[in-house]
Amino acid sequence: MGNKVSGNHAAIGIFDSGIGGLSVALAIRQRLPNERIIYVADTGHAPYGEKTDDYIYQRMHSISQHLVNCGVKAIVVACNTATTAAIAKLRAQYALPVIGVEPGVKPAVLSSKTGVVGVLATPRTLLTPSFATLAQRFATQATVLLQPCPELVPLIEALDFSGDKMRVLLKSYIQPLLDKGADTLVLGCTHYNFVANTIAEIAGPDVSIIRTEMAVAKELQRRLTEADLINTDLINKRTAKATETFYTSGNIDIFNTQLQSLWGSADTVHRLQHKVPD
Ligand code: DGL
Repeated sequence: MGNKVSGNHAAIGIFDSGIGGLSVALAIRQRLPNERIIYVADTGHAPYGEKTDDYIYQRMHSISQHLVNCGVKAIVVACNTATTAAIAKLRAQYALPVIGVEPGVKPAVLSSKTGVVGVLATPRTLLTPSFATLAQRFATQATVLLQPCPELVPLIEALDFSGDKMRVLLKSYIQPLLDKGADTLVLGCTHYNFVANTIAEIAGPDVSIIRTEMAVAKELQRRLTEADLINTDLINKRTAKATETFYTSGNIDIFNTQLQSLWGSADTVHRLQHKVPD
């Protein structure tokens, strides 16, 4: 990064195993238009949902190291799998604010009328002790049904959001939850935000869909405000938007195509070098 800046003008670092975290980055861009963004898609090591917690932590550490080297003022782990696997360990390593994302079980339980909610997430997220603790907290108030969705992320990475294959797959995950009385579905993986409309269509008008990306953006804003780190004067007068820099550990051409479709444009895309953390 040529022009590293610090303090309030520093960027917010955001990462995910791939494009899922872009849904969180979009919410952050909307809520905090003045902030520089550095986004890392760890596509070369995706999907995280089938990896071990140790592997995922190594990736989180390596990417965070890179973001810190870029001078970020906060890190957003825009991935439920990484957050539930190892965010506590990551926070212990870094002094700056580290914000994560967890399946929205609480808002789902509060909004459900039938008292049955379904959580769609990666197999790894649903197996973590931290998710078990979260679900357990609401076990007396509602039945929380867990639905691992192992085949969704690769299809979403391929930008198939509403094709026949996607619809058949989503139906196979959602119907058993509806049959058991679920009236609220939690999107417990940031990738799933891109198929929220298809999920809503399949589930029907009586089912609520719970997403968490705006809550993450609000929490980030709260933490930056608390630490007096909000950028109030960056906006580039000519482009009227703060800079966005993207990295991928996977194929740059594929990531560029994904960005064109989901972000509209990308200032710069770089290749993330594979460095083993100290
Ligand atoms: N987007 C990630 C999440 O929120 C995980 C996708 C993956 O399996 O890599 O869980």
